[in-house]
Amino acid sequence: MSKAINEYIETNKGRFLEELFELLRIPSVSADPQYKNDVIRTAEAIRVNLIAAGADNVEICSTAGYPIVYGEKMIDPKLPTVLVYGHYDVQPADPLELWVFGPFEPVIKDGKIYARGACDDKGQMYMHVKAFELMMRTNTLPCNVKFMIEGEEEVGSTNLGIFVKANKEKLKADVILISDTGIIANDIPSITVGLRGLSYVEVEVTGPSRDLHSGLYGGAVANPINILCEMIAKMKDDKNHITIPGFYDDVEILSAEERAEMGKAPFSLDEYKKALSLSDIHGEEGYTTNERNSIRPTLDVNGIWGGYTGEGAKTVIASKAYAKISMRLVPHQSSDKITKLFSDYFESIAPKSVKVKVTPHHGGEPVVTPSTSVAYKAASMAMETTFGKKPVPVRSGGSIPIVAMFKSELGLDSVLMGFGLDSDAIHSPNEHYGVFNYLKGIETIPYFFKNFADLSK
Ligand code: BES
Ligand code: MN
Ligand code: MN
Repeated sequence: MSKAINEYIETNKGRFLEELFELLRIPSVSADPQYKNDVIRTAEAIRVNLIAAGADNVEICSTAGYPIVYGEKMIDPKLPTVLVYGHYDVQPADPLELWVFGPFEPVIKDGKIYARGACDDKGQMYMHVKAFELMMRTNTLPCNVKFMIEGEEEVGSTNLGIFVKANKEKLKADVILISDTGIIANDIPSITVGLRGLSYVEVEVTGPSRDLHSGLYGGAVANPINILCEMIAKMKDDKNHITIPGFYDDVEILSAEERAEMGKAPFSLDEYKKALSLSDIHGEEGYTTNERNSIRPTLDVNGIWGGYTGEGAKTVIASKAYAKISMRLVPHQSSDKITKLFSDYFESIAPKSVKVKVTPHHGGEPVVTPSTSVAYKAASMAMETTFGKKPVPVRSGGSIPIVAMFKSELGLDSVLMGFGLDSDAIHSPNEHYGVFNYLKGIETIPYFFKNFADLSK
């Protein structure tokens, strides 16, 4: 089997890259309505690619937002079915001036593909389309496969949630396979076994009904920007614990053994600091860096604005101040409950001199996936074959909101077999994805299918 896989990849890798570049050239930014036609065009391109790879019943399923591309190859109803999930939408590319190459003009430099979405998630999603093509052309597809590729992951997957609830029969499968996460390093493979949930809110603080002269009024009225900063500062104590009452009530507490097991994953604090140009790290007292970014919840301001931010100085007290705040959640916290606790607390600490408003955005539930299942074993063995090393199970700090819903609505576990690196700069300027990782993914996926089919017998 390995000879056929390697030969097929060797012969076709130039085309695999060229086809991915075509997708990367379309700016499928789901957050920005300006790109509406491009997002829709990307769904159409994926439809065409799935058909070309050999999928049947390929359709563009419209939703209240961007479409979901579905396709399948059912070879035998008695065989197991793998449902592949991925997303074709990408994050906005700004700030544009920090990109060395255009975000939608992919180039390869030093073995890396530079483009928005190269890793998250067009590159990783497309590995599955090409691995499927490989299995079709080499007559090695060992079980049934369904594809569900969405266009709203980066904006919360709300419409996919509705689609999943309404299409349980269509989506019937034995496992969900996703490449939208990462590995520790190219010589240290890992499989993600946990994702954090998310509660995302926007806050507005209003002081006076109009902007004021900061000399005539300064000192005598509440400045909403100052107040907002004070309120945000009150959300953490000097140990960096979050102070919202009840925030930690449901947080899963790991045993000393579990934490010790986690601590075995290779990690260098010096390299971590160096990679980010940090002279020191920062976080909740009593936890390691890897615990802080995976098994512990967070509260972070993602954006804050108000008043005058143009050239020079304007002496003004703004009428309003705003912030966007995200809280990453861990098992067994609930996104709705945390949003409510946040709103209550934010309102309770607001001084009488201002009015506040909290608007919830999308949320998502945390998830832990099993590392003892047949599907996990299939992924672990596949990576061991192609990397020459057994992958380490790790919990990630990122979120993929639909994964918890796959479990709650379809009763299906997901295998998070991603191939990205933390240094790929997803969501940042100069996002990139290693050609090595792209081809390694295409090589590993057929082994997953084979192992899963064999172990399911
Ligand atoms: N693929 C990422 C999530 C991810 C990346 C998980 C690396 C683990 C490792 C996904 O596209 C993403 O960015 N999700 C958003 C969630 C959202 C916008 C609701 C996130 O985590 O911020
Ligand atoms: Mn993603
Ligand atoms: Mn993303």
